[in-house]
Amino acid sequence: MKHLRFDFNNMFSHSVGASGGVTDSELSSMRGQIAKAHKHITHILKSEENRIGLGLEWTALPRQDSRQIQRIQELGDEIAGSYENVISLGIGGSYLGLKAAQEALCNPYYNDFLQARNGRPRIFFEGNNMDPDTLSVLIKNLNPKKTFVVVISKSGETTETKAAFAVIEKWLKENIGDKYGRQIVAITDPKSGTLRKKVESEQSLDGLDFRSLPVLKGVGGRFSEFNVGLLHMAIVGVNIREVLDGAASMLRRCSAPSLTKNPAYMYAALQTILYRKKGKCISVIMPFSERLKSTADWYVQLLAESLGKKYGRRIRVGSNGVERWENDTEKIVNVGRTPIAARGTNDLHSIQQNNIEGEDNKTVTFIKVEKFNEDIEVAGTGDFLEGRFYSELISVAEEATEWALTMEGRPSCTIIMPEISAFLWGELLFFFEMATAIEGELLDVNAFDQPGVEGYKNYMYYKLGKTDIPQEVAENIRKHPLIKRPRYIL
Ligand code: PA5
Repeated sequence: MKHLRFDFNNMFSHSVGASGGVTDSELSSMRGQIAKAHKHITHILKSEENRIGLGLEWTALPRQDSRQIQRIQELGDEIAGSYENVISLGIGGSYLGLKAAQEALCNPYYNDFLQARNGRPRIFFEGNNMDPDTLSVLIKNLNPKKTFVVVISKSGETTETKAAFAVIEKWLKENIGDKYGRQIVAITDPKSGTLRKKVESEQSLDGLDFRSLPVLKGVGGRFSEFNVGLLHMAIVGVNIREVLDGAASMLRRCSAPSLTKNPAYMYAALQTILYRKKGKCISVIMPFSERLKSTADWYVQLLAESLGKKYGRRIRVGSNGVERWENDTEKIVNVGRTPIAARGTNDLHSIQQNNIEGEDNKTVTFIKVEKFNEDIEVAGTGDFLEGRFYSELISVAEEATEWALTMEGRPSCTIIMPEISAFLWGELLFFFEMATAIEGELLDVNAFDQPGVEGYKNYMYYKLGKTDIPQEVAENIRKHPLIKRPRYIL
């Protein structure tokens, strides 16, 4: 069985120098913190109450009930066999993982060629923005009778998804009539939220309308691909079992207590040292594969929302060992590496210049694919390219980029994927999820909340006249309007 490998040679001072790299003694000095983080996470994972209460139930997803997976598979096959198009509505964790899975594990140009998608439905992602241009063009061009809709929102309240769903629902209703609800599946919280209420009321009238799947308790948006993303995998023909087996295999590897045996711990430890001690506050994630571009976007959300935090964490432990985490408003930390998604070789002609010669504040994480599904020989150039294969070109380009960064004393590491398979992609996502959880421990922040996104939401709600926003929030907005002085606008 092939597994992911993590090559961290170029993170060390012996490779990139002491100002840009981690020394052996710096790594050794992290052992205590890693041991503490390991003990804490292991303690949490043992208790379902802790896992659910703190938002770590995603760690149980690789081993979820196979009957539920079978049901999802059947539903996916039914949709794929009956419709030409699927509109997938969702944002953040209810969108990015689905797109990443499809791009990584289906053929490139999936939507463009029937053969490339093995006769399965074309996929249109919406509800991930509020740009009226895209949604308008979509509903003007799609045939509603041949279109199925999957709406995903854990909370059931997210404005982007809610608005898009309202538009799509109206469009379906007007074109299909009473039975339009049979063309909808909702993936949402099993109990709360307006989407769940809608499901319940429609289901009470007709059991075939608004079928639904639950977002499991304690599984937060950006950690939910192995929950909310499964139906999408079934629709586009990705092998769910293999993805979950890959995640389970990485869970086993990432349960090892030893820093030198656990890839997620090593990744988290090295990134934390470089961030805290060497000022590497920007993290470029650069797969050398077109198919992993959206996986890089997925990781950007994971890192930014999980670790970009204002407050440190206060842990309260009940007598039964059940924990509660609070944001300690007296401990302002303002931490978090800034993630940037790039892709090789495309961005060697853009971001790479800055990586090499711009501010010396970055680490680069490459994802290198060893074996591609296809290969093409270059012929007719009559020069150094003659007879070379594309797989060789991209591999040499990746090695060259590592070398160029190393020569400039700039740290990088490489995640090696023997190939892009469902199993290895499952490993990859789970590796990043575990590494992020451990980094949260090392920074002592809550990696599973996102209070920072509330500010803009509240302002929007206020402006749009939502009635239930707290009075003090409304008062704050009234007192501090945005000031736009004309003389500062040219
Ligand atoms: O990670 C998160 O929790 C968020 O990014 C959510 O996924 C995003 O806000 C969408 O939320 P919901 O699924 O509730 O619509």
